[in-house]
Amino acid sequence: MPDAVNYRVGILTISDRAFTGDYADQSGPVLRKLVEERLNWPIAEAAVVPDDRLEIRERLRQWVDVLDLGLILTTGGTGFAPRDVTPEATRDVIEREAPGLAEAMRATSLAITPHAMLSRIVCGIRGRTLILNLPGSPRAAQENLDAVLPVLPHALDLLRATPGAESGHTRLHHA
Ligand code: MTE
Repeated sequence: MPDAVNYRVGILTISDRAFTGDYADQSGPVLRKLVEERLNWPIAEAAVVPDDRLEIRERLRQWVDVLDLGLILTTGGTGFAPRDVTPEATRDVIEREAPGLAEAMRATSLAITPHAMLSRIVCGIRGRTLILNLPGSPRAAQENLDAVLPVLPHALDLLRATPGAESGHTRLHHA
């Protein structure tokens, strides 16, 4: 067996109130625990930014273009409130959309709550980095990430062109 590949992960909490310290960021730590326990990938960056399209966009750009992270998870700002601009900021930076991941998260969440219809999450690729939007509440963030977590190693293998990724593809189909 080849050694498992550890992709570096960034977790970006997007919330005006967590940014100003009105309340503590809870979703970021929940996502960190999930990634560390279930994927065993290191969290290279974690930050809190306000619901500001420019700030979100610049942070995402920096984490991709300068730090070359493998995976970025955002949490928050994906609903209908006027300040919810995470999907727009994400679309500003991605080069290729990955709609299947967002569809899977919404479909899985719909079985839990009709409020999932209000999720505007976007998933996509910039360079060799996969960016996933997740909702803001800790429980919703966890439920959404849970839905796609099993395919993330293969997604990152393909994106980062690890030799042998195609054999993983075949295994998935015949599993
Ligand atoms: N998905 C799951 N699995 N569980 C939830 O409780 N909440 C929804 C939705 N997706 C929810 C969910 C709600 S109420 C909203 S408004 C949207 O995610 C967007 O959340 P956000 O504005 O906190 O990002």
